[in-house]
Amino acid sequence: MSSGPELVAPASLRAAADAARANAYAPYSRFPVGAALEAEDGRVFAGCNVENASYPAGTCAERVALGMAVAAGVRRFTRVVITSEAAHPTPPCGICRQALVEFAPALEVFAVAPDGRTARWSLAELLPAPFTPASLENV
Ligand code: THU
Repeated sequence: MSSGPELVAPASLRAAADAARANAYAPYSRFPVGAALEAEDGRVFAGCNVENASYPAGTCAERVALGMAVAAGVRRFTRVVITSEAAHPTPPCGICRQALVEFAPALEVFAVAPDGRTARWSLAELLPAPFTPASLENV
């Protein structure tokens, strides 16, 4: 992980994540999250968490952003920025790491706290030894 005052996430992606986070539906956790996924062609797809009264039916911001992109026909990504209201940058959960690695094993992951404190990881660092489409061929 990289972090520190010198590390800054791409501003346009942070803004897109913040805008999506403003629409987060998180009445149960009260933990709104926004994510902005940048495609290789520069397009940006944003998502927020969408919770549900049946708690496990809720979805994270990162997977909503990924679904938006895939539904638009986009499958190759370079970076994702995640924002929350937590004092420390919020890393993606394990399910989202798995969802993202399917499309972007070399993804660069930024997380930004409200005060601008930023952390950065490679997805490979967050999810070593991933299960990938190639894993299905090893039968
Ligand atoms: N959440 C996300 O949307 N992304 C993350 O990276 C971590 C967690 C959501 C899921 C749930 O709605 C709330 O945050 C609390 O876990």
